[in-house]
Amino acid sequence: MEKIKIEKLDNLGRGICYINNKITFVPNTLPDEIVNLKLTKESKKYNEAIVTEYIKQSKKRIPSKCPYYEECGGCHLLHMSYKDTIKFKKDKLESIIYKYAKIKTNIEVIPSLESLNYRNKITLKITNQKYGYYEPSSHKIVNINSCLLASPSINNFIPDIPYLHIKNGELIIRSNYNNELLLWIKTKDKINPDLNYLKEKHKIVGIIENDNVIYGDSSFIEIINHQLFKVSYDSFFQINRYICSTLFDLVNENISDNEVIVDLYCGVGTLGINASKDAKKSFGIEIVKNAVLNAITNSKINKRDNIYYMLGDVKTCLPKIKENIDTIILDPPRAGLDKVTLNTILEFKPKKIIYISCDPMTLARDLNDLKTIYNPKFIKGLDMFPYTYHVESLCVLNLR
Ligand SMILES: C[S@@+](CC[C@H](N)C(=O)[O-])C[C@H]1O[C@@H](n2cnc3c(N)ncnc32)[C@H](O)[C@@H]1O
Repeated sequence: MEKIKIEKLDNLGRGICYINNKITFVPNTLPDEIVNLKLTKESKKYNEAIVTEYIKQSKKRIPSKCPYYEECGGCHLLHMSYKDTIKFKKDKLESIIYKYAKIKTNIEVIPSLESLNYRNKITLKITNQKYGYYEPSSHKIVNINSCLLASPSINNFIPDIPYLHIKNGELIIRSNYNNELLLWIKTKDKINPDLNYLKEKHKIVGIIENDNVIYGDSSFIEIINHQLFKVSYDSFFQINRYICSTLFDLVNENISDNEVIVDLYCGVGTLGINASKDAKKSFGIEIVKNAVLNAITNSKINKRDNIYYMLGDVKTCLPKIKENIDTIILDPPRAGLDKVTLNTILEFKPKKIIYISCDPMTLARDLNDLKTIYNPKFIKGLDMFPYTYHVESLCVLNLR
């Protein structure tokens, strides 16, 4: 194939070029690079391709520090400087928010204090005892012995995975502030881990096989901004403790004393507990049972006696709250708000909404509806997922 010039980046950090006027996406490329390509997918509307040769490289390109970068689907931006990845995320956020919410605004993206070794949780696939991440858009495993994004204690553990004797399945490794590990194995096979060896070498708090605890506990403690949180193997927790701390501060800066606060999609209670020190009353809603049980414990550990939790779908629980709500904090999954919840919020008309999102597209879609009666005070990006194309954001909205 003839040489071709990369024009710009798309929202997934892939280079864009045109082959016979058809848009073509090429990972691991930068604007103005000239490359030779091999097509990997041809569909009616677009192509996907990989580089076979870099004829002219961008001055902005840096060598990736990861030996698996070419094959692994985990990171997308390791060929850029960290500063350039932040600029990429700022441009991406601003353009999505403008395109889908018609809000033109300058968005600061706050970098993570640690841009490598920040992940406190990784999920590895295991097939015939071979373990690693999947290649992009495939079920082919890239065997890894370390991961640049994972915390040091997770990296120490990875070479010892064979001692768990898992043949096929999935392994979720979590670590905390104290380098302790919580292991969750999902498998149909019978496993017989070499516990004596593993306990000697690593601070393993618990091992869970499917939903049975086979060693230790089913949860551990994480600490953020001097607050302690019990986290069960199946409860959500923000994966980057460094930017999580900034997120907590940003939420608190936008809460006043004596408010009635509702924390939707509250997980183990983190954001609501963090914000409720001087609240009049607080509610948390969450669908995962262990997470709600963790949240109840966490409110006690952190001495909050003003928070009430509801187990269930936000859609059905939120309408049951009869108080006048001052602030709704909401941090939904990628899908954002469902229509019923969005309409309930618009009917409740809380004075303020603090919307935390891990997907700018669904955030923009929901802002477009919320802005009918709310003014966005500001939107900030938070680099929760350095060197990937993902970006977390926080938007504060005030009732008009
Ligand atoms: C992005 S996490 C946020 C958790 C929490 N705010 C935090 O910062 O740790 C989203 C949470 O929403 C929960 N969830 C997902 N769908 C839900 C629903 N329909 N109703 C209630 N909770 C839901 C998930 O279990 C998860 O804990």
